[in-house]
Amino acid sequence: SASEKGGWSSFMAKEVSEQPDAIANTLRGRITDGHVVVPELTEFGDDVLAGIRRIVIIACGTAAYAGQTAKYAIEKWAGVPVDVELSHEFRYRDPVITDDTLVVSISQSGETMDTLMAVKYAREAGAKTISICNTQGATIPRESDAVIYTHAGPEVAVASTKAFVSQIAALYLFALHLARVRGSLTEAELAVQTAELQAIPDKVATTLLEADSIRQLAQWMTDTRAVLFLGRHVGFPIAMEGALKLKELAYIHAEGFAAGELKHGPIALIEPGQPVFVIVPSPRGSAHLHPKVVSNIQEIRARGARIIAIAEIGDAAVLPFADTVIHIPLAAPLFEPFLAVVPLQIFAMELSIAKGLDVDQPRNLAKSVTVE
Ligand code: AGP
Repeated sequence: SASEKGGWSSFMAKEVSEQPDAIANTLRGRITDGHVVVPELTEFGDDVLAGIRRIVIIACGTAAYAGQTAKYAIEKWAGVPVDVELSHEFRYRDPVITDDTLVVSISQSGETMDTLMAVKYAREAGAKTISICNTQGATIPRESDAVIYTHAGPEVAVASTKAFVSQIAALYLFALHLARVRGSLTEAELAVQTAELQAIPDKVATTLLEADSIRQLAQWMTDTRAVLFLGRHVGFPIAMEGALKLKELAYIHAEGFAAGELKHGPIALIEPGQPVFVIVPSPRGSAHLHPKVVSNIQEIRARGARIIAIAEIGDAAVLPFADTVIHIPLAAPLFEPFLAVVPLQIFAMELSIAKGLDVDQPRNLAKSVTVE
């Protein structure tokens, strides 16, 4: 009903706007005196967490992109190798699982059958299991050794938004907790990353202010047949998430690529007028990657691509080559996903609305997939 939407035109619009609070609520109670201590992880004992040799993240869809995003931070901070696997692919081969493997499942609903089966399989194979879940008392957390709840609040729209950013926040808390226990970051480094994480809700709120210009962009693009998304490093999973949102909501063929992969194939898709969203790494924080992405932009622009750049405020290098620039606030490289995903969510939502589609209930989809 209208009152449930709190004055918003759709649940999705409401949930997109709630993202700063969803992240802040997920961080709450898990940072003390500038240090991450996730109470739910203390069940394991520090020796167990210190002895983990490998992490396997299992999830589907958007939750799997949250896992792919967090892989960069977990490996960098905690120094543990991370594999991210789609639950249904993991479950039906013979994955190598040992008792020093930690399996982290991610599920908004906690009821996704593919992920539930994968968790059960991992437990039986002797892995330790942690669930990242948004729904209190759901089946997957009950089947896991420990659970870190995201506190995004109920997510009603089929397309996941606030749960996604909350999943990344929970995984970053997990990574910082692990790094502290394992001694892989110094106290000073832990404090810096924790402060970056705490600054994210306000920066997401700032990013939401771009909504009007993104709506206009979407309204111009209602006839678009295909959209490409390019990203590098943590921008890569965000590119795939942006493409998934557009498929789900606007029924447009969309694909996310790693920017470095362009010349290995996807650049053949570029023809005059082809819209390409490019997530541009920070020129300060990612000084080694930024010029590479700018040169990718030049390569596809020369072939007629229409560039929509998502770039840090003050990034002057992209301006001459982009048809549209969407600005995001300054953040350390590993934290850019929280900001870069927001314009992509809004774009997909606005394009869906502009095409007269049901943004909360896209065709053929269910909020939680409880069959295999
Ligand atoms: C996201 O927009 C999707 N509707 C879908 O990919 C979803 O993230 C996936 O089905 C996993 O759901 P879960 O988080 O409830 O397990």
